[in-house]
Amino acid sequence: MSLATDVVIIGAGPAGTLLSHALHQAGIASVVVERASRDHVLGRVRAGVLEWGTVEYLRRLGLGERMDREGHVHGGPAIAWGGRDVLTIDIHKYVGSNFMSYGQTMIQEDLYLAADRRGAEIFFEASDVELHDVTSARPSVTFSRDGERQRVEADFVVGCDGFHGVSRLTVPASVLRTYEKEYPFGWLGILSETPPLEDVVYAHHERGFALASRRNPMLSRYYVQCPLTDSVDDWPDDRFWPELLTRLGPSVAAGVVTGPSIEKSIAPLRSFVAEPMRYGNLFLAGDAAHIVPPTGAKGLNLAVSDVYYLARGFAAHYADGDDHYLDGYSDMALRRVWGAVRFSWWLTTLLHRFPDQTDFDLRAQEAELDYLASSPNAQAAMAEQYAGLPFED
Ligand code: APR
Ligand code: PHB
Repeated sequence: MSLATDVVIIGAGPAGTLLSHALHQAGIASVVVERASRDHVLGRVRAGVLEWGTVEYLRRLGLGERMDREGHVHGGPAIAWGGRDVLTIDIHKYVGSNFMSYGQTMIQEDLYLAADRRGAEIFFEASDVELHDVTSARPSVTFSRDGERQRVEADFVVGCDGFHGVSRLTVPASVLRTYEKEYPFGWLGILSETPPLEDVVYAHHERGFALASRRNPMLSRYYVQCPLTDSVDDWPDDRFWPELLTRLGPSVAAGVVTGPSIEKSIAPLRSFVAEPMRYGNLFLAGDAAHIVPPTGAKGLNLAVSDVYYLARGFAAHYADGDDHYLDGYSDMALRRVWGAVRFSWWLTTLLHRFPDQTDFDLRAQEAELDYLASSPNAQAAMAEQYAGLPFED
C-alpha cells in the first residue's frame, strides 16, 4: 500500500498525536505511524503536572473539556526539608498563573478520542519503520503492518518517536550534536487508590528525595529516590510507605493516607538534548530530541511547546508559503528546551542525595533551601521556571 499526505508523523505519544490534532485544525493532513499498540501507549504511567501555557494550548485546540472537569488547579508546589514547615512556592503570586495536576495518560486518552472523532489515520503496531530521502522535497516513511510493507510519502517528516525512536538516528553523526547527563539514582513510583495530599510536595531528606503528587481525588502518586540497582521487588509496600513518610517529614506525613499500591515502577533519571531539531525536511519534537529528569515535570510540557512551534510553522507554510517559523523552529524550540533542562537539572541536584555526597554537600543543599525560604527573589526565580517559560512569538 502507498499513501500520500502533507506531514507524516512517527510516534503516537503525546507529541505525535497532539501535532496531528493541531495540524488537522489548520487544515493540514497527516498520517501517524506508531510502533506500539494503542493499549500499550495508554498503559504507560507518566507525569501529571501541566504548565499553564500547556493548559491554555490544550483548551485552544478543543482538548480542555475533561481536563477542566477533572484536573486539579494548584497555586504553587511545596518543598519540605529539615523537619520544618513546608515552603510553598507561590507561582500565582510571583507569575500570575497556576499549574494543573492532570495525568499524561488522561491527555493521551483525550487525544485518541479526538483522533477517533475526526477519523485520523494512526497506524498502530507498525514495525521496522524507516525514513527515506528526508533532505529531498518528497521524503517518505516505510513500515510493516499485518505482514505487508507500506509506504507514506509527504512534504515533511516529524519524528515524535521518543528517546528510543529511529528518527533521530536518521540525522548524520556529523550534523547531530548531543549533550547528556545521567544521574546515579532512579525514582520508584507508585499509584495508590487513596486520597492524595492537597499539594504537590517535593521533599529533600538525608535518606533521599521523595515526592507526593496526585491523579484524581481517589488516586495518589508517590515517588522515592532509589539506587539504580534496585528492582520493584526490593520495595514491597511495607517498605515503601514508612520510607516515604520519613522522607516527607512529620508535618507532611501526617496528611498522607496509605493503602495498597496498584502500580509500581522504577525509572532512571537523565538529561539529554540533541541539536539541531531539524535536518532537511525532518523535524524532531518531544522526547525524540530531549529528555529531562522528572523533577519539575517538564517532559510533557516541552513536548507541547515543540508542537506549538511546529504547528504554527506548518500553518504559515501551507497558508502563506511563509517558512520563517519552520526555519527558526530548531533555535526557538531549543531555547525553551535548554531553559527547562537547566531548571530540572538544578532542582534534581538540589533535592537528591548523591551516592558520593559528603556532609558538606548535604549542608550546602540545606543552606540553599534555607536561602530559598528567606528570599522572595529566589522564590520568584523558581516560580517563574516552575510555571514554565513563555512561548516565543
Ligand atoms: N517507530 C514508530 N513509533 C515509535 C518508534 C519507532 N521506531 N519508536 C518509538 N515509537 C513510539 C513509542 O512507542 C511511543 O508511543 O513513539 C512514541 C513516543 O512517545 P513518548 O515516548 O511518550 O514521547 P513524546 O510523545 O515525545 O512525549 C513526551 O512523554 O516520556 C514522556 O516525559 C515525557 O512527558 C513527556 C512526553
Ligand atoms: C507526577 O505527578 O507524576 C509528577 C509530579 C511532579 C513531578 C514529577 C512527576 O515533578
